[in-house]
Order: sequence, then C-alpha cells, then structure tokens
Amino acid sequence: MTVSVGIEAMGLAVPELYVDMAQLAEARGVPVGKFVEGIGLKQMSVPAVDEDTVTLAVRAARMALAGVDLKDVGLCIVGTETAVDHSKPVTSFVQGLLGLPTHCRIYETKHACYGGTAGLMTALDWIRSGSNRGRKALIIASDIARYGLRSAGEPTQGAGAVAMLVSATPSLVAFDQNVGTYANDVMDFWRPLYSKDAVVDGQYSVTCYLDALRGAYRAHQETGTGVTPSYSDRFAAIAYHVPYPKMAKKAHEALRLVDGDAAPAASFERQVRTGLLLPERVGNIYTGSLYLSLLSVLNGDPRALDGQALGFFSYGSGSCAEFWSGTVTPGAQAKVKALGLGALLEARRQLTIAEYEQIMTAREGLDTRVPGADPVPAFRFAGVENHRRLYTRA
Ligand code: CAA
Repeated sequence: MTVSVGIEAMGLAVPELYVDMAQLAEARGVPVGKFVEGIGLKQMSVPAVDEDTVTLAVRAARMALAGVDLKDVGLCIVGTETAVDHSKPVTSFVQGLLGLPTHCRIYETKHACYGGTAGLMTALDWIRSGSNRGRKALIIASDIARYGLRSAGEPTQGAGAVAMLVSATPSLVAFDQNVGTYANDVMDFWRPLYSKDAVVDGQYSVTCYLDALRGAYRAHQETGTGVTPSYSDRFAAIAYHVPYPKMAKKAHEALRLVDGDAAPAASFERQVRTGLLLPERVGNIYTGSLYLSLLSVLNGDPRALDGQALGFFSYGSGSCAEFWSGTVTPGAQAKVKALGLGALLEARRQLTIAEYEQIMTAREGLDTRVPGADPVPAFRFAGVENHRRLYTRA
C-alpha cells in the first residue's frame, strides 16, 4: 500500500529588519536596475545582532507546530550551512527551546543549500518505511546568508527559516516517491571553517546550478514516466531553489529548453512568478529558499490549486541537487494564507544602509559576545558565557 506522505503544516521566520535594494545599489554606486531587475530583489532581510540560525529555526517551528501535541514529534532535523557550533547541532538548542520530547531523534544536516532537502527526504522515507510508528517529523531549514559588505555576493544575502511538519496526513502538499538526483564534485560555493563569510565563484556557481538542474530533471523524467516533450506542463507551478529571483528565471529557461521550449516567457508567468513574491522581499535563505518559494506559491497564487501538481528543485553547492513532484492538498492555500505571511513582512523595519553596515560589522563578534544586563526578548541569542551559547526562553 502506498502511504500518502507530505507536509502537514509550515512556518516561516524572517528577521524584523531589511534593506531596500534600490538604496543599497545607490550606496554601492551600482545602477538600481542591476540589483532590482538584474538580481530581481526588492528587499533583503538583515538579521539583528541577537538573531542566529537557532532563533530563526525556533520561531519558524513554533508557527508550524501551532496546535500540535509535541509528544507526536519523533524526528527533528535542522538543515543548515550556517551552524553555530562545530559539534553541538542547532537541533539540540531547538529541542530545548521548543520542549520537544526526550524520545525524539534529533540531528543537523549539512550540504550547502541542499541540507534542508536532505532532512525532508529522510523524513519522507522514515514515514514511508513505517519506522515513524505514527509519529511526525519536524524539518527546519534555517540560515543566515552572508557574503560580506561590498562583495559581489552582497546583493544575494538574506536570513530566515522555514519549518515543515511532515506526516502521513499531509494537509498542504503530498509528495510523489519519484525523486531525480544529481551530484557532482565542484568548487562553486563554500565557507571555510575559519570564515563567517561564504566564498563563491559567482558566475561558475550559476553554471553549476543549471547543470545540476538539467541532470536532476532528466533523472526525474527517466525514473518516472520517461522523457516526453513539454513534460513540465503537468506542473501548475515549479518551486526552484531561489538564491536570488533572477536565478529561478534562468533555471526555468533551462528546464523548458530540456522540454524543447525555447520561448518560456508565458510558462514563467504561469509556473514561477508567484513563487518569487516572498523571495524577492526576503533574499537568499539558503536551505529554506525553495520552501519559501513553495510558501509563496500557496500564499500568493490567485488560481485554485487543489489537486494540482507541483514541481520542486533543490540545489546545494558542492554539489547535490534533486527534482521531484507533489500534489496540493485541498484547502492548503487557505491554511497558508491564515499564517499572515504578508503581515509578517510588513511588520519589519527598514534599515538605512549605515545601520545595515553597523549590524554586519557587529555580527562579526557574535560568537564571543558577552551577555548584557538588558533583558532580551524571548527566543533570542543572549550571548556566550563560559563557552556556552545562551538563549532566552518564553
Ligand atoms: N539593469 C538591469 N539589469 C542589469 C543592469 C542594469 N543596469 N546591470 C546589470 N544587469 C544584469 C546583468 O545583465 C545580469 O543579468 P543576467 O544574469 O540575466 O545576464 C545581472 O544583472 C547580474 O549582473 P552580473 O552577472 O554582472 O552580476 P555580478 O557578476 O556582479 O554577480 C552573482 C551576480 C554572480 C549572482 C553574484 O551576486 C554572486 O556571486 N552571488 C552569490 C552566488 C549565487 O547566488 N549563486 C547562485 C547559484 S549557486 C546557489 O544557488 C547556491 C546558493 O544559494 C549560494
């Protein structure tokens, strides 16, 4: 018997601060069109000095877990490429702050932006195998994308987390078992152990992403119904990994070319546009970017998507990529709209470029920050004492 497995609930956390991309372009002496149209970003999230991968993960998870009995969660994986410790996983902090049960299996996964997908695939197989014994999995993709001030990657930064409650009773998306995988050892993007900033061969990383997309998409076709012209027409929408919105446009053009479609503009509007509405206001959130795009589709697509097929593409530099598919569960769009994601973004504060630069510089000393005397809001990073990271609780 095939078990229906997928996402039952989702949550999103973004920092309360952002910069306007037109202002950043002006400050860098770059034409505004380059950042706003060329990169495709309107706003970029900036983490405050008391935000890290843990606090974002916890806040996203609390949204996904609303009304859920924590005793039902038997697996929790945090996918991240911006962990806070070389040994202790982000997931341990998350378990403590959320109060997840002690019999819950917890760990962290890393493979650049693919880490969250690695967690999701494990959760799907855990449930399909029956090892879950009726329990659910909490998968969180949390990251702070940082390339540094005045670097070529600066306009493709961001921060945020997406949490997914994965179960055999999916009420948002049910996934098909056919997954097309592509892996290739490349040096396109990495972050050495000694650095807070990512190192990237920017144009090469775009090439690697597109090679991986073609490889994973063909693998999905070959293990599924076989390679057919206009294969992707079956998808009402395709959620891509979105390091920046223009990358999703390039991805869609490459995918449609595999299908033999050299004029993808109309299909881009139909299949990709709504998936970029949230990413273009948040920026790159690495592991969570694809899932932010999924939230964007469910939150912003004007069509009724009940029962419609979706495509998913996950890319992690280094590299590993997967293309797979799923079906929207009836009522999913209303459920996501009720999360109030638009209001979440509206409530943020716009930084001046000088304030943004101060925060970026202050964050360099984050891992040795001494706790201050001032009270810190709930689920924030309070500082480091005796080599121990401290977080505030509710
Ligand atoms: N008006 C409109 N568009 C303009 C413009 C103007 N005045 N000036 C330039 N542009 C366009 C360019 O034509 C270009 O568009 P196309 O790509 O369609 O040709 C776009 O703006 C960007 O211009 P450049 O390519 O010259 O920009 P760049 O070389 O300075 O850097 C980048 C772009 C390589 C993406 C860089 O920001 C970077 O290194 N980012 C980090 C790496 C990254 O995000 N890679 C993505 C694939 S890897 C991945 O996905 C994993 C991950 O998450 C990191």
